[in-house]
Amino acid sequence: MIHKRNATITAVGGYVPDTILTNKMLESYVDTSDEWITSRTGIKERRILSDITLATSDMAAFAIKDLLHESGVDPKTIDCLILATSTPDHILAPAATLVCEKAGLTIAWGFDLNAACSGFLYALSVGASFIESNRYHKILVVGADQMSAIVNYEDRNTCVLFGDGAGAVLLESSSDGSGLIDNVFKVDGKGSSSLSVSGGGSLYPASLVTVADKKHFIQQDGKNVFKNAILGMTSTCSEIMERNQLDTAMIDWIIPHQANLRIIEAVSKHLDFPMDKVKVNIQKYGNTTAATIPLCLWDFKEDFKEGDKLLITAFGAGFTYGSTYLKWGKLHSKII
Ligand code: UT7
Repeated sequence: MIHKRNATITAVGGYVPDTILTNKMLESYVDTSDEWITSRTGIKERRILSDITLATSDMAAFAIKDLLHESGVDPKTIDCLILATSTPDHILAPAATLVCEKAGLTIAWGFDLNAACSGFLYALSVGASFIESNRYHKILVVGADQMSAIVNYEDRNTCVLFGDGAGAVLLESSSDGSGLIDNVFKVDGKGSSSLSVSGGGSLYPASLVTVADKKHFIQQDGKNVFKNAILGMTSTCSEIMERNQLDTAMIDWIIPHQANLRIIEAVSKHLDFPMDKVKVNIQKYGNTTAATIPLCLWDFKEDFKEGDKLLITAFGAGFTYGSTYLKWGKLHSKII
């Protein structure tokens, strides 16, 4: 049987900073409690990039170095880097160029892709299309965000939710049927004001006024985002299953964006999918935006077997949302 040329994940890497910010520690910043945060979000702690000389590009480069080290892949063979991030080091230059430099990707070109918490899934699809078209052969897809750079640690509505981290995967072609099979992606611009950092862009360039108005911090209408996240992830999972003739019993794992354990549990319930097959690591890292999904792939890669069917789903600012169906392939194992 001849299979079409698919793009499959052949290596995974990750990085989280050493500094841990626990719920207990947050109790001294704002009026909150470990009990409230745990019961309302499932988060116990998050990682913070506390070294002020480092930024998102450094975390991305660390995740790539971990991937290259674990897989034995030569950085000089990487064709392209797609960096999903909402917190690039600077507005200009693109962070992807810094990452290529820092990770030793000497022949790669690359670019940033901003689709908030859905960024990694969108980037995975773009990277896969480069492989499927036979234009490039080794694509690194990275999700990295330093959310601590845009969080207001005086706002209890948001500061308990987010953390810093980066995850990376390598895409290569497969002919065994493994790899990315399908995506259902959507945007809904009506949601744009429900989750935003409104300052520092072209509408409100940085000024004393934008700083005084706290426009450089993340603002969220939590309830509206919560409701739409459940609807968006559930509906795109259902749509992708229907058009690929899948029922829940045929899916081995769901990897959801990690924003709130209650959102994840509600999606699992609506899909009638058991929670023991839903990957969750939000308790350790909180919401790392574009990094949550690759960090899940990194944390749980030992659980995935060749041929396993994964449903990956995300929802974020924009609104951006969607689901991807892929079959897990064979990872490189380093020859020592
Ligand atoms: O990755 C992008 C997507 N982001 C998300 O998916 C986040 C979606 N939203 C959420 O996860 C939840 O809406 C939150 C965790 C942000 C909030 O949970 P909630 O159950 O929707 O709480 P709420 O906003 O309705 O607030 C309930 C109460 C309020 O107090 P009053 O008005 O009832 O007196 C809040 O002021 O909880 C209060 N509250 C807190 N209390 C202690 C809000 N944040 C905190 C806090 N500690 N950190």
